[in-house]
Amino acid sequence: MTAIVKDSRSSLEQKMNRKTLKAGVIGLGYVGLPLAVEFAKVGIQVVGIDVDRDKVKALNQGKSYILDVPDRDVADLVESGKLKATADFSVLKDLDTVNICVPTPLGKSKDPDMTYIVSAAKHIADYVHPGMLIILESTTYPGTTEEVIQPMLEAKGLKVGEDFFLAFSPERVDPGNAKFGTKNIPKVVGGVTQACTGLAQAFYKLAIDHVHPVSSPKAAEMVKLLENTFRSVNIGLINELCQMSAKLGVNVWEIVDAAATKPFGFMPFYPGPGLGGHCIPIDPHYLAWTARSHGFAPRFIELASEINSQMPEFVVRKAQEILNEHAKAVKGARVHLLGVTYKKNVSDCRESPAAEVVELLEKLGAVVTYSDPYAPVFRAHQRTYESVDPADSSIGADIAILLTDHDKFDRQALCRQFPVILDTRNAFRGIHSEKIIQL
Ligand SMILES: NC(=O)c1ccc[n+]([C@@H]2O[C@H](COP(=O)([O-])OP(=O)(O)OC[C@H]3O[C@@H](n4cnc5c(N)ncnc54)[C@H](O)[C@@H]3O)[C@@H](O)[C@H]2O)c1
Repeated sequence: MTAIVKDSRSSLEQKMNRKTLKAGVIGLGYVGLPLAVEFAKVGIQVVGIDVDRDKVKALNQGKSYILDVPDRDVADLVESGKLKATADFSVLKDLDTVNICVPTPLGKSKDPDMTYIVSAAKHIADYVHPGMLIILESTTYPGTTEEVIQPMLEAKGLKVGEDFFLAFSPERVDPGNAKFGTKNIPKVVGGVTQACTGLAQAFYKLAIDHVHPVSSPKAAEMVKLLENTFRSVNIGLINELCQMSAKLGVNVWEIVDAAATKPFGFMPFYPGPGLGGHCIPIDPHYLAWTARSHGFAPRFIELASEINSQMPEFVVRKAQEILNEHAKAVKGARVHLLGVTYKKNVSDCRESPAAEVVELLEKLGAVVTYSDPYAPVFRAHQRTYESVDPADSSIGADIAILLTDHDKFDRQALCRQFPVILDTRNAFRGIHSEKIIQL
């Protein structure tokens, strides 16, 4: 048995050392594509596998569909043969490593939806072979790697840590972050056995600056959920403070900025129109679900989620008050939204609070339009909206609400264009105008 472990392990190590490794990435989205590109850039042959044939086609034509990944990088890597994409899972039989980067949404009752992970694992199980390293990167509940993936692969008669190697490594990419990307964000890794951790660590070290091993996949899964729960809870705290400040007649932004001058023991978080994206609104619920299934009632997560989900309504109420002060009803008012993506300088609209703001405003009878340089179309409550140039005089808005503080917005021009702007992000900091009203 020891000899088999050594064989599988040392042949993989040899391939890593010689960079003759064939790597695969399942799921070529915001997480998978940058990862595939980073490994291809260090000279490893990478095959990306995705069920979305449009993405496969684009990549094989050298085109990127992710803002943070330049077309040039993809084109060069495809041309040099280091990167290719396919929808055919049979390539797995020739791959030495495979990273799973598929979506992990929530089900209707906020339970983890494992459909995509299970589907990817089924495909891998069809082709798992001795010497293969499998790493799950999708954010998921603690226990998934060992309870869901390991049995599916071992059912094929191979043993983890001996024949094949299995680990979890959370993905921490932050789309739109110019300072930290896949290469320089430290990678946490937890394998099922020590051999699994060692190999996963060695693999990431080929392309990523720092790798931090932990004792198990469960620990690594929990790390990611702690990070995103930490954000959700702190954003919840500051959103509650924002609502409280409105009652107390203080400016929440001034308070946070002043508190942030403390050089230790304080980390600034800022209020906003609500949580968005594929991580912060979802991941804490994975942890809450696991806690509940172990008979533990998680209180911080539920409370933060409750407060954060009140924010779109808080924004709409504030807009209603502003219109009222201008002797206007919301019914029939023209409301223009500035930014609908869930955060600045990205095109991702998943879970964006803008959808709820649109729905609430329309329920009150407002006519809603929007401008977003990153989102030409936006879907909210089964309707599709098209972005308009904020300088378009036909908008005729009674009020604008800035929901996303894209750098591309010309603040001065917006001040001239709109009669009043509700700023939910402190985007007009430094511009002194009576037209700007902070959340
Ligand atoms: N987006 C982020 O900022 C971010 C950051 C850290 C972690 N994550 C986590 O990473 C995971 C992936 O997120 P994402 O934002 O990259 O999602 P995404 O939707 O951008 O990409 C997922 C890709 O997987 C493909 N896919 C779905 N099912 C598949 C299957 N069975 N086989 C092959 N391909 C399949 C989809 O077509 C899509 O291209 C999630 O668990 C998410 O929570 C995301």
